[in-house]
Amino acid sequence: MTNQRSASPQHASASASASASAPVTVIGLGPMGLALAETLLEHGHPTTVWNRTPQKADTLVSRGAHRAATVAEAVSASPVTILCLKDYETMYPLLDPVGDALRGRALVNLNSGTPTEAHAAVAWAADRGVGYLDGAIMVPPPLVGHPGSVFLYSGPQDVFDQHRVTLASMGDPRYLGADPGLAVLYNAALLGMMYATMNGFLHATALVGSAGVPAVTFADLALKWFMPSVVDPILTGRAPDLDQGTYPGDAGTMEMNLNALTHITRTSVEQGVHSDQPRLMQAIAEQAITDGHSGENYLAVFEVFKKAAQVAQVP
Ligand SMILES: NC(=O)c1ccc[n+]([C@@H]2O[C@H](COP(=O)([O-])OP(=O)(O)OC[C@H]3O[C@@H](n4cnc5c(N)ncnc54)[C@H](OP(=O)(O)O)[C@@H]3O)[C@@H](O)[C@H]2O)c1
Repeated sequence: MTNQRSASPQHASASASASASAPVTVIGLGPMGLALAETLLEHGHPTTVWNRTPQKADTLVSRGAHRAATVAEAVSASPVTILCLKDYETMYPLLDPVGDALRGRALVNLNSGTPTEAHAAVAWAADRGVGYLDGAIMVPPPLVGHPGSVFLYSGPQDVFDQHRVTLASMGDPRYLGADPGLAVLYNAALLGMMYATMNGFLHATALVGSAGVPAVTFADLALKWFMPSVVDPILTGRAPDLDQGTYPGDAGTMEMNLNALTHITRTSVEQGVHSDQPRLMQAIAEQAITDGHSGENYLAVFEVFKKAAQVAQVP
């Protein structure tokens, strides 16, 4: 529904925004917004910026950016405005008063949040005749604009297509689909994977560190082991099993894996290292066994993750 409402106003701006040097506005100049605006300037886009704390734009202005005095002036300067604010809630008090200036233009919102917040933002934009694309930045500020820097987008495809050239100046734009919640959903999924992997590595390094092994020594062995022994054969090789829900236990069962997890917890306790993380993994494997997956391989834990947790949730 929102896609249709947001599509037509954008056609008026299409020719201006299809060019490699199309004007663009950036609202929000935290570390990420600054990196986005700098990169857009480097790519030759006439760049207008606005930030609650205006002096954060000083360096950008010295490099050729235009500092808008008001949000209305900022969004009026370009066919597309990139939002890089703290969160979705920050957006509404800034943009509610400038609906008329936004009408017929596009917003690309790159702050983090949840799919529900992205859907609400699309509805808000559609009510005002604004094209709206949601997005997620998958690199830290220093990597913005570098080859391989991934930016995820979801929402109306016509808005993405019309501004693809401008978006490509910031990083590799990946369009995920018309559901506007997809970009932040992927973002949560990928960041969850990143934090879980980092915690796994950090806990492991603390564990061997308890015997005096330096992190650099352990990292060399661990990371050379991880790719060919875990990532390639299991995560990449067995992904089709997840789609099919088949977890043959002929090479190792959930019971065997629970035994291994118990050893990690016990070793952590023996070595005086934090043991909550292996305990949580142990509890999840125990849940898989309770649910009937004891004879299947460890990937059957996927069936546990697909359901809501049975304990009280963190808000
Ligand atoms: N930094 C990263 O590594 C990274 C990576 C990927 C995605 N992101 C996402 O990018 C977004 C921006 O992140 P960031 O690192 O640039 O910094 P941030 O601290 O998350 O956001 C700062 C920006 O929000 C503005 N802001 C905060 N509250 C405001 C309010 N009440 N009214 C108006 N403006 C307000 C700040 O203005 P003032 O300058 O006036 O305070 C500043 O422009 C976030 O959603 C973040 O999750 C960041």
